Amino acid sequence: MLALRVPSSNAEPARLLMTESGILDKHHRIFSSEGFTEIPALATPLPGLMARLAELGAELTDSRDYVWRETFRDPLKDIMADIDIPKELEKMLPKKWEQLGHVLVLKISKELDDWKGEIARAYSKVLEVDTVLRDTGGITGQFREPVMELLLGNKTETVHVENQVRFSLDAARLMFSSGNVEERIRMATICKPGEVVADMFAGIGYFSVPMAVHSQPASIISHEINPLAFEYLNKNIGLNGVEKKIKPVLGNCLDAEENIADRVIMGYVGTTHEFLPKAMRILRGKGIIHYHETCPNRLLPNRPQERVKEAARDAGKTAEILKMNRIKSYSPGVEHVVLDVKIS
Ligand SMILES: C[S@@+](CC[C@H](N)C(=O)[O-])C[C@H]1O[C@@H](n2cnc3c(N)ncnc32)[C@H](O)[C@@H]1O
Repeated sequence: MLALRVPSSNAEPARLLMTESGILDKHHRIFSSEGFTEIPALATPLPGLMARLAELGAELTDSRDYVWRETFRDPLKDIMADIDIPKELEKMLPKKWEQLGHVLVLKISKELDDWKGEIARAYSKVLEVDTVLRDTGGITGQFREPVMELLLGNKTETVHVENQVRFSLDAARLMFSSGNVEERIRMATICKPGEVVADMFAGIGYFSVPMAVHSQPASIISHEINPLAFEYLNKNIGLNGVEKKIKPVLGNCLDAEENIADRVIMGYVGTTHEFLPKAMRILRGKGIIHYHETCPNRLLPNRPQERVKEAARDAGKTAEILKMNRIKSYSPGVEHVVLDVKIS
């Protein structure tokens, strides 16, 4: 597993640098031995960050596995100690949350309605955030918009740092799924130098921006239909200095230019298969499609595979399934998967 190996005397500043840049792997334990500390990393540092880490004596290593851990510390214990709600309700307190910069997103069950203000206060204090949103309705509609209630604070616009990429967004009005982190990291380095990439569902740049920051595509054409998400897509392009690599396009990807891309990203769920014929036409003859689908477990892996193969056949092409990754559980019995498919 990837880690930064650093003299133990410099472990803390190295860990802080990794945290700031969003590459600290919080789910694996730090390992120390014989004066050196190995800090698990989510991704390879970019040259600028690596130079700063090297000043601390750090070097990249990939020589062992590290022990899994649920959280960095156990904030729930601190929250329980601080919170003022009836004892019997404590077991219903949220055990997971989304932390996006200074904004915390909590799912609070109905039974805790009367204590939502107190819950927001205690979580914000322990997790050191100043704004708390309650996720009341999941993600809805074509724009994949969250339904949120503001419980504490007033600034819902935030900057979330992950894998050395800065994502600006209004967390009350736009989604950001922490559960997709591995896929965002995977997409960051998947394209080959000089490729033209079409991102059909760019959102705020979930895949386009990491790819532009970490790879050398000739260009990424990023389509987004929701004007608010498009506004943040533009902001994130500027924030990460990738104006030369990404061409943002406001509108329906069904109107995208055809016969231009070597790689197509289809990061959308629900009705993604309906866009497959268009994806086939966006490709410049052959290339790779990253096809996302939410699929009942019992229909895996056949349904998404067959859908892609059928769309390829209809377009007079062939589809070779290179791999299928499970991204996360989407709802009970339903999985969010991504297929890498070679089209020729
Ligand atoms: C929110 S993203 C999906 C999230 C992403 N897979 C992730 O990792 O978090 C999907 C985006 O596709 C956009 N979208 C939906 N239909 C579209 C279409 N026909 N053309 C362009 N964008 C579309 C939505 O507005 C939304 O911003």
